[in-house]
Amino acid sequence: MLRISAFRLLGRTGASRLSLLEDFSLRHYSSDPLGVREDTRDARAYFTTPIFYVNAAPHIGHLYSALLADALCRHHRLRVPSAAATRFSTGTDEHGLKIQQAAAAAGLAPSELCDRVSAQFQQLFREADISSTDFIRTTEARHRMAVQHFWGVLKARGLLYKGLYEGWYCASDECFLPEAKVTRQPGPSGDLCPVSLESGHPVSWTKEENYIFRLSQFREPLQRWLRGDPQAITPEPFHHAVLQWLEEELPDLSVSRRSSHLHWGIPVPGDDSQTIYVWLDALVNYLTVIGYPNAEFKSWWPTTSHIIGKDILKFHAIYWPALLLGAGMSPPHRIYVHSHWTVCGQKMSKSLGNVVDPRTCLDRYTVDGFRYFLLRQGVPNWDCDYYGEKVVKLLDSELAFALGGLLNRCTANRINPSGTYPAFCTTCFPSEPGLVGPSGRAQAEDYALVSAVATLPKQVADHYDNFQIYKALEAVSSCVRQTNGFVQRHAPWKLNWESPVDAPWLGTVLHVALECLRVFGTLLQPVTPSLADKLLSRLGVSATERGLGELHFLPRFYGHPCPFEGRRLGPETGVLFPRLDQSRAWLVKTHKT
Ligand code: MSP
Repeated sequence: MLRISAFRLLGRTGASRLSLLEDFSLRHYSSDPLGVREDTRDARAYFTTPIFYVNAAPHIGHLYSALLADALCRHHRLRVPSAAATRFSTGTDEHGLKIQQAAAAAGLAPSELCDRVSAQFQQLFREADISSTDFIRTTEARHRMAVQHFWGVLKARGLLYKGLYEGWYCASDECFLPEAKVTRQPGPSGDLCPVSLESGHPVSWTKEENYIFRLSQFREPLQRWLRGDPQAITPEPFHHAVLQWLEEELPDLSVSRRSSHLHWGIPVPGDDSQTIYVWLDALVNYLTVIGYPNAEFKSWWPTTSHIIGKDILKFHAIYWPALLLGAGMSPPHRIYVHSHWTVCGQKMSKSLGNVVDPRTCLDRYTVDGFRYFLLRQGVPNWDCDYYGEKVVKLLDSELAFALGGLLNRCTANRINPSGTYPAFCTTCFPSEPGLVGPSGRAQAEDYALVSAVATLPKQVADHYDNFQIYKALEAVSSCVRQTNGFVQRHAPWKLNWESPVDAPWLGTVLHVALECLRVFGTLLQPVTPSLADKLLSRLGVSATERGLGELHFLPRFYGHPCPFEGRRLGPETGVLFPRLDQSRAWLVKTHKT
């Protein structure tokens, strides 16, 4: 319907014209620029990060998990602006053998260690602009109540039984391992010690009577769920991997420990001699946050998206959905999986002494700079390597030079002395190349730019849906480059505002470039919130004009009025992003990481 009215507005007739217009313009102008309004209207969304172990201070891998969730959540808010529609939780995982042992090693009471490290995570997330709505600690009373209730439901449904468990347990990973997943490695004294094949962490033999969950009953229901919803686990290789695991036998799962061995946890209801397994405890956090077991939780479950690292896929894609099905609930809507960061080619670990402190990085590269780096370089399907020069190179080229330079070129007093959003001249830049008359100045590449930027919001939304945020940023960066090419090609600094021939074209070049910048600023909000705010404020875009629903790119080109035309730009507030290679000359010499 909109296509037809836009067509009428332009006052043209004839099928061939319509198809040309569709190619260049109408296709990209819609009252729903993303084509997403239908499925997201009133849609509630609940995003979660994993809850973080408090055995050690946060590192950049933890921050990355939280940033991915933050960017997804912020992008969702741009689509569905009602704040009430979105929930975003994070928190700390404070029980279990791992924490009990870490506290003992540090000579602290477990609760002291938990308070200390949980506060570090909260501080980091505040500094990194993580826009979570909830922070949960598993040592809170509300959580203990939720876990014990959940346990009661499983028990009442006949899914827990007592049995003898015998096998390998890895305290670092808090998981049981079959013999095939254990190998031997020389320990500190040279003797061969059993370790987990996957993580390399030490394992020990455990034999005790525990409560056991009938996990084996859920193999087929899990297969049906995953086969019926190919996007349940994204990206696809992880979905495939889980289905592969489910081809093998799925043994029942021990879900408690002897309290004499593990006292730091939630007691099994009605049996104080047993403590609930930390993963069952931890996974229920996702329900505690939304008010479980009170009925209010049902308005958030299962519209849930879990963001997790690949190392905890089995817990989230097998144990958790099976526990939920067992408790009579649906599996989560989406599980988004990411890979890991290494440092200078090595796994990050305390023993190697190469753990990168995220707060130092936020200080060095700025909050928005480091957020941009992690999300632009982090590829969910593969591990990524971190080193300092890489950050500086990327941020200087994409944020300082390309984006900051573009803004400067269009707003500097010398080129834009009136400090306004200039008018767009439809004669200089008609809506299709075939209509370029004697006073038309637009070239084929300019139409390519308009087409690229017009489709960018949809492209970016698709990348977010596929959990490929780095591709969304790559697409934005490529359009920034194209826009710089456009400005370079038409060299507005060589045009003269006083000349009646130059002035309309000069205004048009600036108008198009500012429109491109408005799109970039809007789309960058989920990743670099402060930088995007600075950019949009400089363009004079008000707070109510920053959502994706309002993002109509270059409306004048499509025959619509432009609310920005003639508007004063916002105040000049300094460079958009500072060059790091100048201010951080020490970095190359002294800091590899
Ligand atoms: N406590 C469990 C999660 C329970 S969720 C119900 C846990 N905690 S963790 O602190 O070890 O890890 C939290 C998140 O950080 C996980 O998603 C994990 O993949 C991620 N990362 C840990 N090291 C990482 C890297 N080196 N790189 C990227 N992410 C990494 O597991």
